[in-house]
Amino acid sequence: MAPLDQTRKASQKAASEDTGIASRLLAWYDAHHRDLPWRVTPGAFARGIRPDPYRVWMSEVMLQQTTVEAVKAYFRNFVEKWPTVEALAAAPADDVMKAWAGLGYYSRARNLKACADLVTLKGGRFPDTEAALRVLPGIGAYTAAAIAAIAFDRPAAVVDGNVERVVTRLYSIETPLSEAKPEIRAVVEKLVPQRRPGDFAQAMMDFGATICTPKRPRCLLCPVHEHCSAILTGDPERFPVRLPKDDKPLRRGAAFVAERVDGAVLLRKRPEKGLLGGMTEVPTTGWTARVDGATTADAAPFPADWRRAGQIGHVFTHFALELEIFHARVIGDAPSGHFWSLAHEISGEALPTVMKKVIEAAIPGATKRRNSH
Ligand code: ADE
Repeated sequence: MAPLDQTRKASQKAASEDTGIASRLLAWYDAHHRDLPWRVTPGAFARGIRPDPYRVWMSEVMLQQTTVEAVKAYFRNFVEKWPTVEALAAAPADDVMKAWAGLGYYSRARNLKACADLVTLKGGRFPDTEAALRVLPGIGAYTAAAIAAIAFDRPAAVVDGNVERVVTRLYSIETPLSEAKPEIRAVVEKLVPQRRPGDFAQAMMDFGATICTPKRPRCLLCPVHEHCSAILTGDPERFPVRLPKDDKPLRRGAAFVAERVDGAVLLRKRPEKGLLGGMTEVPTTGWTARVDGATTADAAPFPADWRRAGQIGHVFTHFALELEIFHARVIGDAPSGHFWSLAHEISGEALPTVMKKVIEAAIPGATKRRNSH
């Protein structure tokens, strides 16, 4: 069947069933929602309680790239340090980058700051429509819809990976996921209820995360199993249908961990633009997503007694990276463009995860020492 015909079929079906599905999912959410630090309880709007748009925005930006479990601690730390958008705007950019370190996609941290600056400049209130949110730095279609729905109870179609899975299963959509986005969006637009659209968006997320899971969905507990056509196929896990994926290219390079007698480690800041822009690193060879770097001690930034300290792997969005790690004990001043990070300061540096792996391979425990000063 042509994708368009299928779109029509699935969304017409959604229209005729929407009250059933939405109201069942809302009832399920009332009983089984997850308690999350950025959330208000279900039905809050009807009781005159409004979520803080700043917290909703912060959580959605963080959740773009990692799991709810991983985000919780970062979210708490950010809102404790910077409880309002004005406080975040007043913070030095480097402090924000440091607090973000480990969450990945560092351009998002820069956009987070740019967005806070802009919202503060315009009076400190987040816009309350999808269209106005969409033009802010770092807010794409998904995030604008999520904030409009969750913070302002707008009937926006919020489509993330969880929602794609739920919808492709409910309607057993055979179109490969990479081509099924318009079809899925059309279905979600029909499903969104006028009453409690914000809770509905979060209900879909929680339902996808806890019941309609990627592997082994818990169909026996599903509040909408009577509406689900994937169950009838006997293999709901087959949805969403995916085309075979190209493997990511493997890049190689070397990283050099220079350690001073007092445990300080030599670091430098990456250029603002590009992969891991503005983050901190040990000297490395010039690998990129397309180009390998050298992998031997000959490529070291200066002569020293470099010894091989192992190898680490890290997977970025578009490529996998394997780094040979070299370690040397050195004395003297930091070369130009580099600085010594004292042993107790390393854990507070804006080190991306790949660099934490590198330093840990050479000096176990070095990135975990707490700053007791
Ligand atoms: N994933 C993305 N946004 C979310 C939210 N607000 N709650 C739970 N999971 C999410």
